Amino acid sequence: MPRLVVVSNRVSIPDPAAKTAAGGLAVALKDVLESHRGLWFGWSGKVAAQPSLHPTIIEKGSVQYALMDLSSQDRQEYYSGFANRALWPTMHYRIGLSEFSRADYAGYLRVNRSFARALAGLVRPDDVIWVHDYHLIPLASELRQLGLQNRIGYFHHIPWPSPEVLGTLPGSNDLLRAMMDYDLVGVQTDRDADNLRRNLVQEIGATPRRSDLVELGDKRMRIKGFPVGIDVEGFQGGALRAGSHRLVRQAREALDSRSLIMAVDRLDYSKGIPERMEAFERFLINNPEQRGRVTFLQVAPTSRADVPEYAQLSRQVNETLGRINGDLGEPGWVPIHYTTSAYPRSVLGALFRLSRVGLVTPLRDGMNLVAKEYVVAQDPADPGVLILSKFAGAAQQLGEALIVNPSDKVEVADAIRDALGMSLSERIRRWRPMMATLKTCDVRWWADAFMRELTRRTPAPAEREAREHAAPPA
Ligand code: F6P
Repeated sequence: MPRLVVVSNRVSIPDPAAKTAAGGLAVALKDVLESHRGLWFGWSGKVAAQPSLHPTIIEKGSVQYALMDLSSQDRQEYYSGFANRALWPTMHYRIGLSEFSRADYAGYLRVNRSFARALAGLVRPDDVIWVHDYHLIPLASELRQLGLQNRIGYFHHIPWPSPEVLGTLPGSNDLLRAMMDYDLVGVQTDRDADNLRRNLVQEIGATPRRSDLVELGDKRMRIKGFPVGIDVEGFQGGALRAGSHRLVRQAREALDSRSLIMAVDRLDYSKGIPERMEAFERFLINNPEQRGRVTFLQVAPTSRADVPEYAQLSRQVNETLGRINGDLGEPGWVPIHYTTSAYPRSVLGALFRLSRVGLVTPLRDGMNLVAKEYVVAQDPADPGVLILSKFAGAAQQLGEALIVNPSDKVEVADAIRDALGMSLSERIRRWRPMMATLKTCDVRWWADAFMRELTRRTPAPAEREAREHAAPPA
């Protein structure tokens, strides 16, 4: 079995003393790395005055971790700048929020080049390399320029937009050309795969060979949807154990007999938080008998706070929240509870289990694992109802949720009303097939499927043409 090298912007090193459990993705990658005696390479999360050109190596069991520090200029231009002020909004269809700067783009390419140089010194000829996410799109191209011929795969965790949207970003065609240095590109949904293929064909003249294969000159790349899953047993177990956690007990007491509606997101404009609060407001206006009988809890840990658009969102959320609670609150009842604290995942799971409705309404999302966690945390005998945005990748798998357009406040308000009034038999009827899908397509299934595809040989053009022109079997 070849050794696996995982590369991602953030690296999750197992820490037995950590207060919050590692995310499902970190658990799955650790599993695959252990079974391949692998190496995980990426940013240490630290800024150093004079970062070394060589990674710090940490050994944990059979897995090695190789960590790079960044200078503050590199962090600013590569991470906060190009990745999170230009690529992130564009990939989430928010071209009005995209702030391109040549200096940031140069910093993004510079960090990718320096990561490639540091990584090349650690890679063996038969290693398989798996790169993650939009921070590192040019990495394979940089590694190829250093002479590496290893199999290299890339997984894109966020949406891939249409050519009309991505084409607005300066430099996007160079990124598309750089993609062609991967052997396999995984995206979350068939819609993302179709968009990526159309970008490559329309913008840089790649030739589609089959629905999952494109060529440009002598380069061939496969594109496939691999919907990322969650660690079903781990999350379920955590949610059950945390049922007696102080925070969950307090929430249960504070709720009294009220129904709980829950939402959990990073504080990010792609998640539609102010729009969701306004939809809840619309629900209370349209259904006045529900006032005082329902509480909406929005957990939104602060994220990327040094990026101006995130600071602006934080102000907008605070204003919307204050206005709605001021207009509709009553002595003894606050309609929306809001916190930017990051709670342990198990506590969130227990709160999901306590809630009657999970409100997952991003304006655009690659997958949205919170939707999956909400389903998995439910009591099979009395499950809550998931309301899910049609623009989350998860909607492709969780069609039994109440699917809504997150920008249509009346539609979301009506879905909240329907969810709160839904019979037990209907709730169970909807929950069971979603749970079955999530159990089958869990995070280990996802990692195994990607690795199987990456290590599979792509036929060379001559071999393929011969096969395509061969006479059909008699
Ligand atoms: O979902 C995309 C993503 O970049 C993940 O890779 C990451 O875990 C998450 O968003 C949080 O973002 P950041 O690493 O910028 O805090």
